[in-house]
Amino acid sequence: MSERNDSQSSRRKDPPMYPRNHWYVAAWSRELVQDKIFARRIFDQELVLYRRRSGEPVVQSGLCPHRRMPLALGTLFGEELECRYHGITFDADGRCVRIPTQDTIPPTCRLDTYPAVERGPWIWVWPGDPAQADPALIPDTRSLGLGHPQWRAMDNGTYLIEARQQLYVDNLMDLSHVYALHFPPGLSRNLQLPRIQYEERGERKVVTTATLLPADEFTRLLFPQAGPAVFSVFDAEYIAPGLINAVIAVHQPNPAMDGPGAALGTLVFPHALTPKSATATHLFMAEARNFRIDDADLDAPMRESNLRILTEDKAALEAIEAHLGSELRYRMSVAADSGALRVRRHIDALIAAEQAGARPSNPDTSHTGA
Ligand code: FES
Ligand SMILES: [Fe+2]
Repeated sequence: MSERNDSQSSRRKDPPMYPRNHWYVAAWSRELVQDKIFARRIFDQELVLYRRRSGEPVVQSGLCPHRRMPLALGTLFGEELECRYHGITFDADGRCVRIPTQDTIPPTCRLDTYPAVERGPWIWVWPGDPAQADPALIPDTRSLGLGHPQWRAMDNGTYLIEARQQLYVDNLMDLSHVYALHFPPGLSRNLQLPRIQYEERGERKVVTTATLLPADEFTRLLFPQAGPAVFSVFDAEYIAPGLINAVIAVHQPNPAMDGPGAALGTLVFPHALTPKSATATHLFMAEARNFRIDDADLDAPMRESNLRILTEDKAALEAIEAHLGSELRYRMSVAADSGALRVRRHIDALIAAEQAGARPSNPDTSHTGA
């Protein structure tokens, strides 16, 4: 966020790891309660979030410019935030409105305020140049099944992953890890695993696909009528620098039983991934399905399955992060990495363009038919 921040200035010489002129998820809407101060560290910056009287979100720097007291410990009076230490008070635009011990207010007594918009299930923040913060650039979460009448959406929570955001992008865009990490070890010794297909749809959309046979216990739970031979087709869709959608489309087998036939239903797992720091990431985990949408009993086992997978991914990524230096260089890649490498090049290009002063463009959310 702002270059005025202390922790930022010490890193100013490093190339940025993430593009900043994009919308990132800062919180679930439900996390921001009227008249309450909410704190979260994003892009290595302490932030406070709260709602104006109108309900609109406010995102501001979270340390008092006077003596760096965390403003989350302060008190909100309507739209005025009073620091707990000496009572200096700021409004929702970051202006200082009161210094209790004097009448004059120095120009440096203000809070950085960041563009923030509530859209879909989330509060979005723009950590880059405020002049470029166009709400039209916010990814369309309805097309991801969130808030769509034909989909049942779930909020599966917020998680802190002690690993850089890039590792989660690599994880999601290389679906071959599903077989080794989320199934018992040795699956590939007994089963011919599919090749991961990789495709670019449009300028920004990168999709990797894997087909899984046979059906596992989970797909049998979802579609008990479907019989034992069910094909799951996995897609990973890169939507924006902080948003990747994992898709599982479950199919009956085709008549020859050697590939997917009629579709039974689709599950989507939008992962909002917001850097907390250079080596830690906030994950806002959503899930939606377009089948059995009135069956509330299915929510708990679906959430449980999602959280088991998430826990395995988190453990793997944190184990990797523990041995990384500041710069991430892999020694080798395989064909299954193509999608992840393509996304990495795209993000590097966004950073380079941003450094050169280019303006951001719309994310591509056209996808699974939601
Ligand atoms: S530190 Fe906030 S008023 Fe002094
Ligand atoms: Fe995974």
